[in-house]
Amino acid sequence: MIGTLLSVLLSVSLVKCTDAGGVGVTYGTRGTTLPPPADVARFLAYTIFDRVRLLDADPRALQAFADTGLAVDVTVPNGDVPRLVNLTFAQRWVRTRVAPFAEATNISRILVGNEVISQANRTLLLSLVPAMQNLHTALVTASLHREIKVSSPHSLEILSASTPPSAGQFRDGYDKAIVKPLLSFLRATGAPFMVNAYPFYGLTSDTLDYALFRVNAGVMDEGSGLLYTNMLDAQLDAVHSAMRRLGFGDVDVVVAETGWPSAGEYWEVGVGADLARDYNKNAIRHLGSGVGTPLMPNRAFELSIFSLFDENLKPGPVSERNFGLYHADMTPVYDAGILTAPQEVVVGPVVSTKVTPAPEAAEGRRWCVAKPAADEVALQENIDFVCGQGSIDCGAIRAGGSCYDPNNVQAHAAYAMNLYFQSNGQHAFDCDFGQTGVVTTVDPSYESCKFT
Ligand SMILES: *[C@@H]1O[C@H](CO)[C@@H](O)[C@H](O)[C@H]1NC(C)=O
Ligand SMILES: *[C@@H]1O[C@H](CO)[C@@H](O)[C@H](O)[C@H]1NC(C)=O
Ligand SMILES: *[C@@H]1O[C@H](CO)[C@@H](O)[C@H](O)[C@H]1NC(C)=O
Repeated sequence: MIGTLLSVLLSVSLVKCTDAGGVGVTYGTRGTTLPPPADVARFLAYTIFDRVRLLDADPRALQAFADTGLAVDVTVPNGDVPRLVNLTFAQRWVRTRVAPFAEATNISRILVGNEVISQANRTLLLSLVPAMQNLHTALVTASLHREIKVSSPHSLEILSASTPPSAGQFRDGYDKAIVKPLLSFLRATGAPFMVNAYPFYGLTSDTLDYALFRVNAGVMDEGSGLLYTNMLDAQLDAVHSAMRRLGFGDVDVVVAETGWPSAGEYWEVGVGADLARDYNKNAIRHLGSGVGTPLMPNRAFELSIFSLFDENLKPGPVSERNFGLYHADMTPVYDAGILTAPQEVVVGPVVSTKVTPAPEAAEGRRWCVAKPAADEVALQENIDFVCGQGSIDCGAIRAGGSCYDPNNVQAHAAYAMNLYFQSNGQHAFDCDFGQTGVVTTVDPSYESCKFT
Protein backbone atom coordinates (compact mmCIF):
# COMPACT_ATOMS: atom_id res chain seq x y z
CA MET A 1 0.00 0.00 0.00
CA ILE A 2 1.39 3.40 -0.93
CA GLY A 3 1.62 5.47 2.18
CA THR A 4 1.54 9.17 2.51
CA LEU A 5 4.14 11.04 4.44
CA LEU A 6 2.70 12.59 7.46
CA SER A 7 4.59 15.20 9.36
CA VAL A 8 3.55 15.61 12.88
CA LEU A 9 5.11 18.45 14.74
CA LEU A 10 5.10 17.39 18.30
CA SER A 11 5.06 19.84 21.14
CA VAL A 12 7.98 19.74 23.48
CA SER A 13 8.25 19.40 27.14
CA LEU A 14 11.43 18.12 28.63
CA VAL A 15 11.47 15.74 31.50
CA LYS A 16 14.81 15.28 33.10
CA CYS A 17 15.28 11.60 33.41
CA THR A 18 18.04 10.34 35.67
CA ASP A 19 19.81 7.09 34.90
CA ALA A 20 17.76 5.53 37.70
CA GLY A 21 15.17 2.86 37.16
CA GLY A 22 14.30 3.54 33.58
CA VAL A 23 11.01 4.32 31.93
CA GLY A 24 9.22 2.01 29.56
CA VAL A 25 5.98 1.99 27.67
CA THR A 26 3.58 -0.77 26.73
CA TYR A 27 3.11 -1.09 23.00
CA GLY A 28 -0.26 -2.77 22.59
CA THR A 29 -1.65 -3.28 19.13
CA ARG A 30 -5.39 -3.77 19.57
CA GLY A 31 -6.24 -0.86 17.33
CA THR A 32 -7.34 -0.83 13.73
CA THR A 33 -5.20 1.98 12.30
CA LEU A 34 -2.01 1.87 14.34
CA PRO A 35 1.27 2.73 12.63
CA PRO A 36 3.61 -0.11 11.67
CA PRO A 37 6.26 -1.18 14.20
CA ALA A 38 9.09 0.43 12.22
CA ASP A 39 7.49 3.86 12.64
CA VAL A 40 6.92 3.21 16.32
CA ALA A 41 10.56 2.24 16.79
CA ARG A 42 11.70 5.42 15.03
CA PHE A 43 9.38 7.55 17.09
CA LEU A 44 10.45 6.09 20.43
CA ALA A 45 14.02 7.18 19.76
CA TYR A 46 12.84 10.75 20.41
CA THR A 47 11.29 9.99 23.76
CA ILE A 48 12.46 9.37 27.32
CA PHE A 49 11.47 5.71 26.99
CA ASP A 50 14.35 3.26 27.18
CA ARG A 51 12.18 0.16 27.29
CA VAL A 52 9.21 -1.12 25.37
CA ARG A 53 6.91 -3.91 26.45
CA LEU A 54 5.25 -6.03 23.80
CA LEU A 55 2.13 -7.99 24.69
CA ASP A 56 3.24 -10.78 22.39
CA ALA A 57 6.46 -11.73 20.62
CA ASP A 58 5.56 -10.39 17.18
CA PRO A 59 8.57 -10.97 14.91
CA ARG A 60 7.81 -7.78 12.96
CA ALA A 61 8.08 -5.73 16.14
CA LEU A 62 11.23 -7.53 17.29
CA GLN A 63 12.75 -6.78 13.91
CA ALA A 64 11.68 -3.15 14.08
CA PHE A 65 13.39 -2.59 17.44
CA ALA A 66 16.72 -3.97 16.20
CA ASP A 67 19.65 -1.63 16.74
CA THR A 68 17.56 0.91 18.65
CA GLY A 69 19.13 0.13 22.03
CA LEU A 70 15.63 0.02 23.52
CA ALA A 71 15.23 -2.80 26.00
CA VAL A 72 12.39 -4.99 24.78
CA ASP A 73 10.18 -7.14 27.00
CA VAL A 74 8.26 -9.79 25.09
CA THR A 75 5.18 -11.59 26.41
CA VAL A 76 3.96 -15.16 26.18
CA PRO A 77 0.16 -14.80 25.88
CA ASN A 78 -1.76 -16.55 28.68
CA GLY A 79 -3.11 -19.14 26.26
CA ASP A 80 0.40 -20.40 25.50
CA VAL A 81 1.55 -20.64 29.11
CA PRO A 82 0.32 -24.22 29.75
CA ARG A 83 2.16 -25.45 26.65
CA LEU A 84 5.45 -24.19 28.06
CA VAL A 85 5.28 -26.78 30.82
CA ASN A 86 6.62 -29.00 28.04
CA LEU A 87 10.37 -28.31 27.97
CA THR A 88 10.65 -29.24 24.30
CA PHE A 89 8.00 -26.68 23.47
CA ALA A 90 9.72 -24.04 25.63
CA GLN A 91 13.02 -24.70 23.89
CA ARG A 92 11.37 -24.41 20.54
CA TRP A 93 9.68 -21.18 21.59
CA VAL A 94 13.00 -19.63 22.58
CA ARG A 95 14.75 -20.99 19.48
CA THR A 96 12.15 -19.64 17.05
CA ARG A 97 10.60 -16.60 18.76
CA VAL A 98 13.53 -15.10 20.65
CA ALA A 99 16.96 -16.35 19.62
CA PRO A 100 16.81 -15.21 15.95
CA PHE A 101 16.25 -11.61 17.09
CA ALA A 102 18.43 -11.51 20.18
CA GLU A 103 21.57 -10.56 18.25
CA ALA A 104 20.26 -7.22 16.98
CA THR A 105 17.39 -6.50 19.34
CA ASN A 106 18.03 -5.82 23.02
CA ILE A 107 15.54 -8.37 24.33
CA SER A 108 15.59 -7.94 28.06
CA ARG A 109 12.82 -10.10 29.45
CA ILE A 110 10.33 -12.78 28.59
CA LEU A 111 7.13 -12.09 30.52
CA VAL A 112 5.14 -15.24 31.07
CA GLY A 113 1.48 -14.38 30.71
CA ASN A 114 -0.20 -11.36 32.19
CA GLU A 115 -1.90 -11.40 35.60
CA VAL A 116 -2.00 -15.18 35.51
CA ILE A 117 -2.48 -15.57 39.26
CA SER A 118 -5.64 -13.44 39.33
CA GLN A 119 -7.26 -15.35 36.43
CA ALA A 120 -8.47 -18.03 38.88
CA ASN A 121 -7.76 -20.67 36.26
CA ARG A 122 -6.19 -23.73 37.81
CA THR A 123 -4.45 -24.98 34.67
CA LEU A 124 -2.92 -21.60 34.06
CA LEU A 125 -1.98 -21.12 37.69
CA LEU A 126 -0.22 -24.44 38.03
CA SER A 127 1.62 -23.89 34.75
CA LEU A 128 3.12 -20.53 35.63
CA VAL A 129 6.26 -21.41 37.58
CA PRO A 130 7.12 -24.55 35.56
CA ALA A 131 6.70 -22.50 32.37
CA MET A 132 9.03 -19.83 33.72
CA GLN A 133 11.59 -22.45 34.75
CA ASN A 134 11.46 -24.11 31.35
CA LEU A 135 11.93 -20.81 29.53
CA HIS A 136 14.91 -20.06 31.73
CA THR A 137 16.36 -23.51 31.01
CA ALA A 138 15.81 -22.88 27.31
CA LEU A 139 17.59 -19.53 27.58
CA VAL A 140 20.52 -21.25 29.31
CA THR A 141 20.69 -23.75 26.43
CA ALA A 142 20.77 -20.84 23.99
CA SER A 143 23.32 -18.95 26.15
CA LEU A 144 20.91 -16.04 26.43
CA HIS A 145 20.12 -16.24 30.15
CA ARG A 146 22.54 -13.47 31.11
CA GLU A 147 20.83 -10.89 28.90
CA ILE A 148 17.27 -12.18 29.05
CA LYS A 149 15.40 -12.64 32.32
CA VAL A 150 12.09 -14.41 32.83
CA SER A 151 9.38 -12.78 34.91
CA SER A 152 5.59 -12.33 34.95
CA PRO A 153 3.46 -9.24 35.71
CA HIS A 154 0.88 -9.51 38.47
CA SER A 155 -2.19 -7.54 39.32
CA LEU A 156 -2.59 -6.19 42.85
CA GLU A 157 -5.47 -8.62 43.21
CA ILE A 158 -2.89 -11.18 44.29
CA LEU A 159 -2.87 -9.37 47.64
CA SER A 160 -5.53 -10.25 50.20
CA ALA A 161 -4.57 -7.23 52.27
CA SER A 162 -3.04 -3.98 51.03
CA THR A 163 -4.05 -1.37 53.59
CA PRO A 164 -2.23 -0.25 55.51
CA PRO A 165 0.80 -1.00 53.33
CA SER A 166 2.71 -2.60 56.20
CA ALA A 167 -0.03 -5.25 56.42
CA GLY A 168 0.30 -6.31 52.78
CA GLN A 169 0.08 -10.03 52.20
CA PHE A 170 -0.53 -12.45 49.36
CA ARG A 171 -3.77 -14.40 49.13
CA ASP A 172 -3.97 -17.49 51.28
CA GLY A 173 -3.32 -20.65 49.37
CA TYR A 174 -1.48 -18.86 46.56
CA ASP A 175 1.20 -17.47 48.86
CA LYS A 176 3.01 -20.72 49.69
CA ALA A 177 1.92 -22.77 46.66
CA ILE A 178 2.60 -20.32 43.84
CA VAL A 179 4.09 -17.04 44.96
CA LYS A 180 6.86 -18.46 47.11
CA PRO A 181 8.28 -20.75 44.42
CA LEU A 182 7.90 -17.86 41.98
CA LEU A 183 9.89 -15.53 44.22
CA SER A 184 12.55 -18.21 44.74
CA PHE A 185 12.87 -18.52 40.99
CA LEU A 186 13.15 -14.74 40.54
CA ARG A 187 15.79 -14.47 43.25
CA ALA A 188 17.81 -17.36 41.87
CA THR A 189 17.80 -15.95 38.33
CA GLY A 190 18.18 -12.26 39.20
CA ALA A 191 14.80 -11.26 37.77
CA PRO A 192 12.41 -8.71 39.29
CA PHE A 193 8.92 -9.19 40.72
CA MET A 194 6.65 -7.23 38.38
CA VAL A 195 3.36 -5.60 39.28
CA ASN A 196 0.66 -3.76 37.37
CA ALA A 197 -0.15 -0.93 39.78
CA TYR A 198 -3.09 1.34 39.02
CA PRO A 199 -4.10 3.98 41.57
CA PHE A 200 -6.85 4.75 39.05
CA TYR A 201 -8.57 1.51 40.02
CA GLY A 202 -8.20 2.21 43.74
CA LEU A 203 -9.78 5.60 43.45
CA THR A 204 -12.75 7.27 45.09
CA SER A 205 -13.71 10.91 44.62
CA ASP A 206 -12.14 11.57 48.05
CA THR A 207 -8.74 10.18 47.11
CA LEU A 208 -8.18 11.85 43.74
CA ASP A 209 -5.44 14.19 45.01
CA TYR A 210 -3.72 11.30 46.81
CA ALA A 211 -3.83 9.20 43.64
CA LEU A 212 -2.53 12.03 41.42
CA PHE A 213 0.47 13.01 43.60
CA ARG A 214 -1.15 16.35 44.34
CA VAL A 215 -0.92 18.14 47.67
CA ASN A 216 -2.99 16.20 50.19
CA ALA A 217 -3.04 15.41 53.89
CA GLY A 218 -1.56 11.97 53.35
CA VAL A 219 -2.49 8.66 54.93
CA MET A 220 -0.80 7.40 58.08
CA ASP A 221 0.13 3.73 58.27
CA GLU A 222 -0.54 2.94 61.91
CA GLY A 223 1.40 -0.28 61.64
CA SER A 224 4.69 1.28 60.57
CA GLY A 225 4.13 4.88 61.68
CA LEU A 226 4.97 6.00 58.13
CA LEU A 227 3.05 8.70 56.26
CA TYR A 228 1.99 8.05 52.66
CA THR A 229 1.50 11.04 50.41
CA ASN A 230 0.53 9.13 47.27
CA MET A 231 -1.32 5.94 46.46
CA LEU A 232 1.30 4.42 44.17
CA ASP A 233 3.83 4.35 47.03
CA ALA A 234 1.21 2.68 49.21
CA GLN A 235 0.53 0.03 46.56
CA LEU A 236 4.22 -0.72 46.03
CA ASP A 237 4.86 -0.93 49.77
CA ALA A 238 1.93 -3.30 50.22
CA VAL A 239 3.58 -5.58 47.64
CA HIS A 240 6.94 -5.21 49.35
CA SER A 241 5.41 -6.09 52.74
CA ALA A 242 3.79 -9.18 51.28
CA MET A 243 7.11 -10.27 49.74
CA ARG A 244 8.98 -9.60 52.97
CA ARG A 245 6.44 -11.65 54.89
CA LEU A 246 7.42 -14.65 52.74
CA GLY A 247 11.11 -13.87 53.23
CA PHE A 248 11.78 -12.19 49.87
CA GLY A 249 12.16 -8.52 50.77
CA ASP A 250 15.38 -8.43 48.73
CA VAL A 251 13.79 -9.25 45.35
CA ASP A 252 13.50 -6.13 43.19
CA VAL A 253 10.05 -4.68 42.47
CA VAL A 254 9.33 -3.27 39.01
CA VAL A 255 6.15 -1.49 37.92
CA ALA A 256 5.27 -3.42 34.77
CA GLU A 257 2.27 -1.21 34.07
CA THR A 258 0.79 1.96 35.38
CA GLY A 259 -1.36 4.54 33.67
CA TRP A 260 -4.53 6.56 33.62
CA PRO A 261 -7.32 6.86 31.04
CA SER A 262 -8.00 10.13 29.25
CA ALA A 263 -11.67 9.26 28.69
CA GLY A 264 -14.21 6.93 30.21
CA GLU A 265 -17.82 6.17 30.96
CA TYR A 266 -19.86 8.81 32.81
CA TRP A 267 -19.75 6.61 35.92
CA GLU A 268 -15.97 6.26 36.02
CA VAL A 269 -14.41 8.58 38.59
CA GLY A 270 -11.41 10.69 37.65
CA VAL A 271 -11.11 10.13 33.91
CA GLY A 272 -9.81 12.96 31.75
CA ALA A 273 -6.84 14.02 29.64
CA ASP A 274 -5.52 16.55 32.19
CA LEU A 275 -5.68 14.00 34.98
CA ALA A 276 -4.03 11.33 32.84
CA ARG A 277 -1.27 13.77 31.94
CA ASP A 278 -0.69 14.73 35.59
CA TYR A 279 -0.67 11.15 36.79
CA ASN A 280 1.77 9.87 34.18
CA LYS A 281 4.14 12.83 34.51
CA ASN A 282 4.12 12.62 38.27
CA ALA A 283 4.52 8.85 38.40
CA ILE A 284 7.54 9.03 36.07
CA ARG A 285 9.08 11.87 38.04
CA HIS A 286 8.43 10.36 41.44
CA LEU A 287 9.64 6.82 40.75
CA GLY A 288 12.68 8.12 38.88
CA SER A 289 13.57 10.68 41.54
CA GLY A 290 15.49 8.34 43.82
CA VAL A 291 13.36 9.30 46.82
CA GLY A 292 11.84 5.84 46.90
CA THR A 293 8.82 4.80 48.93
CA PRO A 294 8.45 4.93 52.74
CA LEU A 295 9.38 1.22 53.05
CA MET A 296 11.89 1.22 50.18
CA PRO A 297 13.57 4.63 50.55
CA ASN A 298 16.41 6.16 48.55
CA ARG A 299 16.00 4.25 45.35
CA ALA A 300 14.52 4.68 41.92
CA PHE A 301 12.06 2.23 40.39
CA GLU A 302 11.69 1.09 36.84
CA LEU A 303 8.17 1.69 35.57
CA SER A 304 6.34 1.29 32.30
CA ILE A 305 3.49 3.50 31.25
CA PHE A 306 0.40 1.84 29.95
CA SER A 307 0.03 2.59 27.12
CA LEU A 308 1.60 4.03 24.01
CA PHE A 309 -1.57 4.11 21.89
CA ASP A 310 -5.28 4.32 22.41
CA GLU A 311 -6.59 0.97 21.22
CA ASN A 312 -10.08 0.98 19.78
CA LEU A 313 -10.46 -2.79 19.60
CA LYS A 314 -10.15 -3.39 23.32
CA PRO A 315 -13.30 -4.63 25.04
CA GLY A 316 -14.72 -3.33 28.29
CA PRO A 317 -15.65 0.16 29.44
CA VAL A 318 -14.61 3.23 27.40
CA SER A 319 -11.61 3.83 29.68
CA GLU A 320 -10.03 0.56 28.49
CA ARG A 321 -9.63 2.00 25.00
CA ASN A 322 -8.27 5.34 26.23
CA PHE A 323 -5.11 4.66 28.19
CA GLY A 324 -2.91 5.82 25.32
CA LEU A 325 -0.44 8.68 25.27
CA TYR A 326 -0.96 8.83 21.50
CA HIS A 327 -3.79 8.46 19.07
CA ALA A 328 -3.47 5.88 16.34
CA ASP A 329 -2.25 8.59 13.91
CA MET A 330 0.63 9.43 16.29
CA THR A 331 -0.76 12.76 17.44
CA PRO A 332 -0.56 13.16 21.21
CA VAL A 333 -3.69 12.68 23.33
CA TYR A 334 -2.07 15.17 25.74
CA ASP A 335 1.43 16.42 26.38
CA ALA A 336 2.83 13.81 28.71
CA GLY A 337 6.28 15.36 28.65
CA ILE A 338 7.92 12.29 27.20
CA LEU A 339 9.72 13.88 24.25
CA THR A 340 13.41 14.57 24.58
CA ALA A 341 13.73 17.10 21.77
CA PRO A 342 11.55 18.99 19.36
CA GLN A 343 11.25 16.67 16.41
CA GLU A 344 9.76 16.62 13.02
CA VAL A 345 8.68 13.03 13.04
CA VAL A 346 8.15 11.53 9.65
CA VAL A 347 5.67 8.77 9.68
CA GLY A 348 5.12 6.58 6.73
CA PRO A 349 4.00 4.56 5.04
CA VAL A 350 1.01 4.29 7.28
CA VAL A 351 -2.35 2.73 6.84
CA SER A 352 -4.14 5.99 7.27
CA THR A 353 -3.20 9.65 7.52
CA LYS A 354 -6.55 10.52 8.89
CA VAL A 355 -7.73 9.63 12.35
CA THR A 356 -10.80 7.55 12.20
CA PRO A 357 -12.28 8.00 15.63
CA ALA A 358 -14.21 4.97 16.74
CA PRO A 359 -17.72 6.08 15.85
CA GLU A 360 -20.27 5.81 18.60
CA ALA A 361 -22.41 2.79 18.15
CA ALA A 362 -25.60 3.25 16.27
CA GLU A 363 -28.44 2.25 18.56
CA GLY A 364 -28.08 -1.37 19.54
CA ARG A 365 -25.39 -2.29 17.01
CA ARG A 366 -22.93 -4.90 18.10
CA TRP A 367 -19.82 -6.38 16.59
CA CYS A 368 -17.61 -9.32 17.39
CA VAL A 369 -13.83 -8.86 17.66
CA ALA A 370 -10.86 -10.87 18.93
CA LYS A 371 -10.07 -10.69 22.63
CA PRO A 372 -6.95 -8.68 23.38
CA ALA A 373 -5.13 -11.61 24.97
CA ALA A 374 -6.23 -14.15 22.40
CA ASP A 375 -3.60 -16.48 21.11
CA GLU A 376 -2.58 -16.03 17.48
CA VAL A 377 -2.77 -19.72 16.72
CA ALA A 378 -6.36 -19.80 17.97
CA LEU A 379 -7.20 -16.68 15.96
CA GLN A 380 -5.80 -18.24 12.80
CA GLU A 381 -7.99 -21.26 13.48
CA ASN A 382 -10.98 -18.92 13.73
CA ILE A 383 -10.14 -17.42 10.34
CA ASP A 384 -9.77 -20.86 8.79
CA PHE A 385 -13.02 -22.00 10.36
CA VAL A 386 -15.09 -18.98 9.29
CA CYS A 387 -13.61 -18.68 5.82
CA GLY A 388 -13.94 -22.41 5.28
CA GLN A 389 -17.72 -22.11 5.50
CA GLY A 390 -18.94 -22.03 1.92
CA SER A 391 -21.57 -19.43 2.73
CA ILE A 392 -19.21 -16.77 4.07
CA ASP A 393 -17.20 -14.45 1.84
CA CYS A 394 -13.77 -13.63 3.26
CA GLY A 395 -12.65 -11.74 0.13
CA ALA A 396 -12.14 -8.52 2.08
CA ILE A 397 -9.21 -9.96 4.05
CA ARG A 398 -7.50 -11.56 1.04
CA ALA A 399 -4.75 -9.67 -0.79
CA GLY A 400 -6.31 -6.67 -2.50
CA GLY A 401 -9.42 -6.75 -0.31
CA SER A 402 -10.65 -3.70 1.56
CA CYS A 403 -9.65 -5.14 4.95
CA TYR A 404 -6.36 -6.80 3.93
CA ASP A 405 -4.36 -4.02 5.59
CA PRO A 406 -3.22 -4.21 8.29
CA ASN A 407 -2.13 -7.67 7.27
CA ASN A 408 -2.01 -9.41 10.62
CA VAL A 409 -3.82 -12.25 12.29
CA GLN A 410 -5.52 -10.10 14.90
CA ALA A 411 -7.11 -7.77 12.36
CA HIS A 412 -8.06 -10.51 9.91
CA ALA A 413 -9.53 -12.64 12.69
CA ALA A 414 -11.62 -9.73 13.96
CA TYR A 415 -13.05 -9.28 10.49
CA ALA A 416 -13.80 -12.98 10.00
CA MET A 417 -15.19 -13.51 13.49
CA ASN A 418 -17.51 -10.53 13.05
CA LEU A 419 -18.74 -11.88 9.70
CA TYR A 420 -19.64 -15.13 11.37
CA PHE A 421 -21.30 -13.38 14.29
CA GLN A 422 -23.38 -11.13 12.03
CA SER A 423 -24.38 -13.82 9.58
CA ASN A 424 -25.62 -16.06 12.39
CA GLY A 425 -27.84 -13.45 14.00
CA GLN A 426 -25.55 -11.77 16.55
CA HIS A 427 -25.86 -14.33 19.30
CA ALA A 428 -23.22 -13.91 21.99
CA PHE A 429 -22.33 -17.60 21.65
CA ASP A 430 -21.47 -17.03 18.00
CA CYS A 431 -18.74 -14.70 19.17
CA ASP A 432 -17.26 -17.07 21.73
CA PHE A 433 -14.78 -18.91 19.51
CA GLY A 434 -13.35 -20.89 22.42
CA GLN A 435 -13.25 -17.73 24.51
CA THR A 436 -11.17 -15.80 21.98
CA GLY A 437 -13.96 -13.45 20.85
CA VAL A 438 -15.78 -10.60 22.54
CA VAL A 439 -18.82 -8.54 21.61
CA THR A 440 -18.29 -4.78 21.38
CA THR A 441 -20.57 -1.79 20.82
CA VAL A 442 -17.76 0.16 19.15
CA ASP A 443 -17.75 -0.13 15.38
CA PRO A 444 -14.32 -1.55 14.41
CA SER A 445 -14.68 -0.29 10.81
CA TYR A 446 -11.90 1.88 9.41
CA GLU A 447 -11.45 3.58 6.07
CA SER A 448 -12.92 1.37 3.36
CA CYS A 449 -12.92 -1.67 5.65
CA LYS A 450 -16.48 -1.98 6.81
CA PHE A 451 -17.49 -4.33 9.60
CA THR A 452 -21.08 -4.86 8.63
C1 LIG B 1 19.77 -3.04 26.70
O1 LIG B 1 18.85 -2.72 27.71
C2 LIG B 1 19.43 -2.61 28.99
C3 LIG B 1 18.30 -2.41 29.96
O2 LIG B 1 17.74 -3.64 30.21
C4 LIG B 1 20.42 -1.49 29.02
O3 LIG B 1 21.00 -1.39 30.30
C5 LIG B 1 21.48 -1.75 27.98
O4 LIG B 1 22.36 -0.66 27.91
C6 LIG B 1 20.86 -1.99 26.61
N1 LIG B 1 21.89 -2.45 25.70
C7 LIG B 1 22.16 -1.85 24.56
C8 LIG B 1 23.21 -2.51 23.72
O5 LIG B 1 21.62 -0.84 24.18
C1 LIG C 1 -7.78 -21.97 31.55
O1 LIG C 1 -6.71 -21.54 30.74
C2 LIG C 1 -6.40 -22.42 29.67
C3 LIG C 1 -5.18 -21.89 28.99
O2 LIG C 1 -5.26 -20.53 28.70
C4 LIG C 1 -7.59 -22.50 28.73
O3 LIG C 1 -7.31 -23.40 27.69
C5 LIG C 1 -8.80 -22.98 29.52
O4 LIG C 1 -9.93 -22.96 28.69
C6 LIG C 1 -9.04 -22.10 30.74
N1 LIG C 1 -10.09 -22.70 31.55
C7 LIG C 1 -11.14 -22.00 31.96
C8 LIG C 1 -12.11 -22.76 32.82
O5 LIG C 1 -11.31 -20.83 31.68
C1 LIG D 1 6.03 -31.28 23.69
O1 LIG D 1 6.25 -30.32 22.67
C2 LIG D 1 6.74 -30.87 21.46
C3 LIG D 1 7.10 -29.70 20.55
O2 LIG D 1 6.03 -28.83 20.39
C4 LIG D 1 5.71 -31.79 20.88
O3 LIG D 1 6.18 -32.37 19.69
C5 LIG D 1 5.37 -32.89 21.91
O4 LIG D 1 4.32 -33.68 21.42
C6 LIG D 1 4.98 -32.27 23.23
N1 LIG D 1 4.82 -33.30 24.23
C7 LIG D 1 3.70 -33.43 24.95
C8 LIG D 1 3.72 -34.52 25.96
O5 LIG D 1 2.72 -32.70 24.79
